[in-house]
Amino acid sequence: MQKEMLNFDYYNPTHIIFGKNRLEELNEVIPQDKKVLLLYGGGSVKRFGTLDKVKEVLKSREVGEFGGIEANPTYETLIKAIKLVKEENYDFLLAIGGGSVIDGTKFVAAGALFDGNPIDIFGSGIGEKRPITQALPFGTVLTLPATGSEMNSGGVITFVEKKAKLGFGSAYTFPVFSLLDPELTYTLPKRQLANGIMDAYVHVMEQYMTYPVGALLQDRYAESLLQTLIEIGPDVIDEDNHDYNTRATFMWSATNALNGTLSRGVPQDWASHGLGHEITALYGIDHARTLAIVLPSLLNVRRNEKHDKLVQYAERVWGIADGNDDEKIDAAILKTREFFESLGAGTRFSDYGLGEEVVDVLVDQLERHGLTNISEHGDQTLEVSRQIYKNAL
Ligand code: NZQ
Ligand code: ZN
Repeated sequence: MQKEMLNFDYYNPTHIIFGKNRLEELNEVIPQDKKVLLLYGGGSVKRFGTLDKVKEVLKSREVGEFGGIEANPTYETLIKAIKLVKEENYDFLLAIGGGSVIDGTKFVAAGALFDGNPIDIFGSGIGEKRPITQALPFGTVLTLPATGSEMNSGGVITFVEKKAKLGFGSAYTFPVFSLLDPELTYTLPKRQLANGIMDAYVHVMEQYMTYPVGALLQDRYAESLLQTLIEIGPDVIDEDNHDYNTRATFMWSATNALNGTLSRGVPQDWASHGLGHEITALYGIDHARTLAIVLPSLLNVRRNEKHDKLVQYAERVWGIADGNDDEKIDAAILKTREFFESLGAGTRFSDYGLGEEVVDVLVDQLERHGLTNISEHGDQTLEVSRQIYKNAL
């Protein structure tokens, strides 16, 4: 039976300020009466001068700083930022960085106004999971295209002691604005450029590689994003190639890959992300590289459930015309793996010095965090996930 497009709401209030030489506009988009806290990561924005430029633009304001937000931002660090915001009455936050700083800032924005202990924003055995009902306003200056966090309302926080990486989100945690200057990507090393391409790619796949519901436009939109990422990938990872249009396309593609447009009216998976977060939480592997390990294996293990979309992906994204369905699917999975590897990422645990010992530990973590019935059908059980991890050794 032909499935139908699902009902949906579409709400995205983030004002995108895209392009070169627009930093001065921060002074217009942050209300004059606000006391602003600048949040940033481990120092790249200091090293490359972005922080100083922002401070210069906001020099007539009351501005404070909170640096040291880690890649995979930790609850333990962000709680300190929440304390600072409350003690010193900051009422506008500005994230300057990549997904980690932006996610961290979202949590600080929500945590500072949360009724009760901010740990209860999370579920999965860590907190009580109560809804976010308000958050401080915040903007972002994006320095790393990858996560889409600059135009969505979700975040992922790491709990060091509990070895967990958990998501949260709300209608209140969209950035008010995000400044997207492709020239800020010129300082990124190859590893982060490759991570950005792969993370964006897998975001599209999570919202596309499910089952058909007759969503012609969403499918074509997803396919065009995948093809764009495949086309620009080799140029983007050349850290010395500062071609503006390449980086602008990269930045806008990563934003579009997870700003809510693609997922309207279609089923979504997110199992690669679920399995990947456990790998980062335990072994510290970069988020995007965990996806490079999980996705090719998942596509193979789930080839029956995803059959129709896999064939469509093979034909339309990779132009595979020869062979029967199974052969097309095999070829498309191989192309996907080769694409990630061409960007310099290992697609197996063994590429990261990990072996069979990880499988049981990761499956236990999935169970602890309630990821026992995931995927677009809710039928990815722990046994299926175990198979996916095993096939990725
Ligand atoms: O910390 P600093 O010194 O700033 O260095 C960062 C960091 O070490 C560096 N960097 C950032 N911009 C740079 C730069 N270096 C040179 N030049 C620049 N312009 O890059 C390193 C990685 O930064 P990070 O923010 O951690 O990377 P990314 O943007 O990939 O974010 C990853 C985090 O986002 C979460 C991931 O789980 C992970 O915690 N995600 C968030 C999502 C969301 N909110 O929607 C969705 C994603 O699926 C993802 O889960
Ligand atoms: Zn991701």
